[in-house]
Amino acid sequence: MGTPSTLLWKLDPHTKAKHAILSEYLKAWFQIVGKTHSKLIFIDGFAGPGRYSEGEPGSPLIALDIAKKANISSKILFQFVEEDKNRFKYLKNELNNLKIPPSFDISIENESFSNILSSTQDYLERNHGAPIFAFIDPFGFKGIPFNLIKNLLSYQKCEIFINFMIDSTNRFLEHPEKVIRCYIYELLGSSDVSSIIESDNRIAALQRAYEERLKSVAKFVLPFEMRNKKDRTQFFLFFASNHRLGHIKMKEAMWRIDKDGEFSFSDASYGQQSLFRDFNLEQKIRGLLSEIIQNFATQTVPCKSVETFVEDKTIFLKSHLKNALKIAEEEAKISVEALKSDGKKRIKNTFPGDTIIKFC
Ligand SMILES: C[S@@+](CC[C@H](N)C(=O)[O-])C[C@H]1O[C@@H](n2cnc3c(N)ncnc32)[C@H](O)[C@@H]1O
Repeated sequence: MGTPSTLLWKLDPHTKAKHAILSEYLKAWFQIVGKTHSKLIFIDGFAGPGRYSEGEPGSPLIALDIAKKANISSKILFQFVEEDKNRFKYLKNELNNLKIPPSFDISIENESFSNILSSTQDYLERNHGAPIFAFIDPFGFKGIPFNLIKNLLSYQKCEIFINFMIDSTNRFLEHPEKVIRCYIYELLGSSDVSSIIESDNRIAALQRAYEERLKSVAKFVLPFEMRNKKDRTQFFLFFASNHRLGHIKMKEAMWRIDKDGEFSFSDASYGQQSLFRDFNLEQKIRGLLSEIIQNFATQTVPCKSVETFVEDKTIFLKSHLKNALKIAEEEAKISVEALKSDGKKRIKNTFPGDTIIKFC
């Protein structure tokens, strides 16, 4: 689907998948940060009208509903930004029809995301220390300069979830009009795009380039690929955060949407059951084991160290680690100390954090 020009538009399967990841993550985010902070900030930089053509809720209504159900006492500041006048009005009306808890402070702006973000710098400074979640969901590549992303991520507890429109970025990369190319240079934070242009796989090169840019300002970065009904890559959702728990929770959300662990969703195969799901997962677990062995070869370490490696440096979860270690022990790729640190015997096929593992 091209960029919709209508007030509302149809909800694609991949947009449903995007909302499912956002919802899964926000359920965890509001609960976790709400327990320890009296103020939270949710920014929806490209908010849309709040509804799709068949009445389904858009991201602002989804976020508000999840925040309500989280039932936390923190004050939550919601900042919704929508540049289009008619969509802004529609969203405003939708929000007026909602019952808003007194602890919610909602601001809705008919402006461009970049203007709002530049002018709210003071406000964010004043609320320094409040966790921020910024959802940045444009139709294209215009108006999301990397400098703004860098600025946002410089806030101690800010996480971003951004839709990187890779297909249109690729198609317009060599556009004859300089102003168009400049939007892309701003987005990438660099005008040096020659290696992307010359690459055999420009989509992969663009993905790498943006991922590297994000990694230069955030400790944890996760990409999730979205394909359209022709099975062509349309955009990547990137999550960027400096918090390991946020990273783990987003991985869990992504695994829930793509149980094959490819971190990819395609409208083309929407609704079809993958015949190879179990096979894929076993192959994936073997891939994880190779990564672990490569990292820990010949070392003797507590299981906790392997757990931290898996959670911080791979796309896998703690639950996958147990299966990988089971295979490793069966195939004598590791030996596991029979006694735990408390002197008690270790139960077979369990790997508590203090278990000592020797890698061959
Ligand atoms: C992909 S839609 C957002 C969908 C919405 N986030 C959701 O998930 O329901 C992008 C929206 O951003 C608006 N928009 C376009 N350029 C913008 C800008 N520079 N700043 C803010 N909003 C913009 C468009 O009018 C459109 O409604």
